[in-house]
Amino acid sequence: MSAAGSRRFEPTGPLRGSYRPPADKSISHRAALFGAMCDAPVTIHNYLDSADTQSTLDALLKLGAGVTQDGEEVVVRGVGLHAALEATGGELDVGNSGTLLRLLPGWLAGQPGRVWTLDGDESIRRRPVDRVVEPLALMGAGVQAREGRFAPLTVRGAELRGIEYPAPVASAQVKSCVLIAGMLADGSTTVTESRQSRDHTERLLRRARVPFECDGLAVTVGQVDELELEEITVPGDPSSAAFLVAAACLVPGSRVTISGVGLNWTRTGFFRIAQRMGATVVGVLEEPGTRADREPVGELDVAHGPLEGTQVGGGEVPLAIDELTLVGLLGAFAQGETTIRDAAELRHKESDRISAVVDGLAAIGADIEEAEDGFTVRGHGGPLEGGVLDARGDHRLAMLGAVAGLASERGVEVLGMDAAAVSYPGFEQDLAALLRG
Ligand code: S3P
Repeated sequence: MSAAGSRRFEPTGPLRGSYRPPADKSISHRAALFGAMCDAPVTIHNYLDSADTQSTLDALLKLGAGVTQDGEEVVVRGVGLHAALEATGGELDVGNSGTLLRLLPGWLAGQPGRVWTLDGDESIRRRPVDRVVEPLALMGAGVQAREGRFAPLTVRGAELRGIEYPAPVASAQVKSCVLIAGMLADGSTTVTESRQSRDHTERLLRRARVPFECDGLAVTVGQVDELELEEITVPGDPSSAAFLVAAACLVPGSRVTISGVGLNWTRTGFFRIAQRMGATVVGVLEEPGTRADREPVGELDVAHGPLEGTQVGGGEVPLAIDELTLVGLLGAFAQGETTIRDAAELRHKESDRISAVVDGLAAIGADIEEAEDGFTVRGHGGPLEGGVLDARGDHRLAMLGAVAGLASERGVEVLGMDAAAVSYPGFEQDLAALLRG
């Protein structure tokens, strides 16, 4: 993503009314990918229309799947799990999508005689893929990455064998990649995480009636002939909704009702953290620890109010991984100190999100300090002054800058606002509608 599209966000508000977030990005990627692995057509309702999820559909088309799009409804006519792919290989462009880059190799690794190379934009070429190269190589695939670590990533399919894999990072992308490859491998495959990450893949596997077990943080899958899914409805994205939740928490006089939002407990860490900071975020979140084959959907009521600092670390980190920068923003407006630790993974996102949020918030007046695995921000219970925030090509940083601007004293100019289209092309329109109330 280039730094295109500089935009100013002036202090305005309040935000009032009701709002439906765009479809979930993580679940849209998985729905399309699993659809392509089925033998019969799969209808996906409410598929996310964004740059990232379009990259997934384009890649699947190139792999030989049929894709028909009619608004938010997508029908994927798959090639089956043991893909009788017409093409024997070629190049696949993942664009800016880390999820596509890490999940798709799991499927390709189990297609003997096929060789595919995955590559993407400048940001994707800086993101580590050794985390999937290692388990796939252990399973018997031929996998090669630039400097052993980065895209382009070449996957040479093979007859795979099951493994027991302790994942070195708590990453749903790694877990999902190994589970997908596991369905194609001889014997059983177990992946064990150090902390629970988002479980959308597990829910889809349960629904597709794949032999599959969860034991604490260990997930085991067996070899499968075919997947059975007919329809998937994608809920609203809690990570996209989080920007509007943060805006409603920070802009005085705001009161917003959010409907159709996914409330899977492995994704709602941010809402729990905001509640702990004193924010009015009311809704029935799924109970932590729930194992299910469906994605829960519900409503949240959010209102402006005073906030207090908090500490975030350990098992809470993966459950709020994409929203930790927003916790930093809330912390900058809160009374007291907010600390994020155990979050070194943030350095491997669409940008180095630790340095990007520290520099970005400091540039608009926050008292914030960088740590190797997080940051500390000290607030005095009042608004940030404002200034210029560089999104560094990162969609989530761009949207954070916009929210900061609305709640600031003098406004924020966001450099690189166009990046928002990676996950949330309608962000500015949704914000404007709530500002009109
Ligand atoms: C994702 C998992 C997370 C998250 C990313 C999407 C997914 O990454 O940050 O935006 O769809 O599985 P990790 O699993 O690598 O932490």
